[in-house]
Amino acid sequence: VHWEVEESPPPKSNFGQSLVIALPASKTTTLSIKYKTTEKSTALQWLTKEQTQGKQYPLCFTQSQAICGRSLLPCQDTPSVKAPFTISVTVPEPLTAVASGEPSGDPESSGNFRTFRYEQKVPVMSYLIAIVVAHLESCQIGPRSKCYAEPGVIHAAQKEFQDIVEDFILKAQEVVGGAKYEWGSYNVAVMPSSFAYGGMENPNCTFMSASLIPGDRSLTPTLAHEIVHSWIGNLVTNAFWKDFWLNEGFTRYIERRVLGKIFGPAFRGLLLLVGYNDLIKAVDMLNQQGTPGLTRLEPEIDEIDPDDAFSRVPYEKGSLFLFYLEQIVGGEQQMTDWLGAYVAAFRERSIETEDCKQHFLKFFKGVKRIKEIDWEHWLHGEGLPDFDLSSYVDRSLVDESRALADSWLNTSTSDVETGHMKAQQWMLFLDHLINAVVAGTSISHDTLASMESKYKLSLTKNVEVSFRWCLLGCKCKWPVCLDWTEKFLANHGRGVYVKPLYMALKAFDAERAISVFQQNRGLG
Ligand code: BES
Ligand code: ZN
Repeated sequence: VHWEVEESPPPKSNFGQSLVIALPASKTTTLSIKYKTTEKSTALQWLTKEQTQGKQYPLCFTQSQAICGRSLLPCQDTPSVKAPFTISVTVPEPLTAVASGEPSGDPESSGNFRTFRYEQKVPVMSYLIAIVVAHLESCQIGPRSKCYAEPGVIHAAQKEFQDIVEDFILKAQEVVGGAKYEWGSYNVAVMPSSFAYGGMENPNCTFMSASLIPGDRSLTPTLAHEIVHSWIGNLVTNAFWKDFWLNEGFTRYIERRVLGKIFGPAFRGLLLLVGYNDLIKAVDMLNQQGTPGLTRLEPEIDEIDPDDAFSRVPYEKGSLFLFYLEQIVGGEQQMTDWLGAYVAAFRERSIETEDCKQHFLKFFKGVKRIKEIDWEHWLHGEGLPDFDLSSYVDRSLVDESRALADSWLNTSTSDVETGHMKAQQWMLFLDHLINAVVAGTSISHDTLASMESKYKLSLTKNVEVSFRWCLLGCKCKWPVCLDWTEKFLANHGRGVYVKPLYMALKAFDAERAISVFQQNRGLG
């Protein structure tokens, strides 16, 4: 067959170039493409052995979402195309390769090498093609679930995820109206903390950052989130990256419903408020950056790398919109009935925002209040939507955080007992303080020091809390936080922490920000 790599238009940043192949008409053809990746392949991360937990063997993993799949293999790298696939990976002993499918047979040995084979039978998008190669052990964490991790982390990972993984799967299935789990196994592979995300929903093999194993299960909401992608995202998919909220907003909404079912409505209320604060921060950052267009739920991003458009907006504005719709249609059960119908209608397909809207309107056509919905405002309006979440949620856990923050802001101290407070309450407490500082209130260094001596926030094992504590310290230009911040940046690669922290550190101490970056840039 005739093929060429299209030279014009000139390749834009990570968009790459088209491989154009002329296929014979009206005939099924098998194509083989021989190719090599290069060190510039954006999907591949190579860690030296020193950069791993065990420090004995190198480690390699991929991250294809959003548009890095094309740097891993020639493919139709768009979420609107789905196909089944098989993967085989040959690696030297004693390394193991795990990929985003079900294992097909035992690994085959040849000399010093082993070949691992995986098959994904469900048609999926190129962004779900994933491989991790490392010195890995595995253990059972549920009836259909294994965990893969470096030997030094596997025990902690097992303790963190055991059993709760199956609870989450069963509850998620209830919230999506009983739509069945279609993937066979649900496994988790633990990534180094340099992983740019907290979790990634690779089918049969969720990637989870090691930083989400604090030891007290306080960060397992991320596990619930990745599990929910088994229906939303992986089965019903955004057709284009402008529709990303159909993946992430829906997933966040359902994830919080799942957690509400398990831990109660006050916990759901708390998560909703933490999310709303994330939305405030994201809108603020995007406005500051001069890209207010990205605060739309359905943004115009044809010309932009979706990874550059990435923010918490599709997550939090999207899930807030669904929470608002829940109020309009009469409650959780109505939403669950709709979600069941939605998954049944669109499974194995890729859809646009308009498809979702039409399906919703048709499903609820008998409900009077749906006329109230201002679709244009929600889908294309900029900034925070015109909807006050706080009057609709159980505020008991939320109010405690708020009162604690107010006490510190007004009197520079508090005598309230805090031993029982949940990690998410600490997150919200710190968010209130951060928002106050952003709005112009100042918090003295003495106050911060007395907070530290009371609560020992610098010692927390919860990354969400330590990220916020560092951020608050930097925003208050508190020199004591510089060492913690530097250490945090050396140990974490998750973009949602690293970007705002570098920005805050730069505003505080630009030289230090640059030198910290120089020291860490080469690391995994
Ligand atoms: N699919 C995303 C991660 C992602 C998004 C990777 C876009 C590349 C491009 C994953 O499901 C996710 O949302 N992760 C969140 C988890 C959080 C919302 C609980 C993360 O890592 O922050
Ligand atoms: Zn997600």
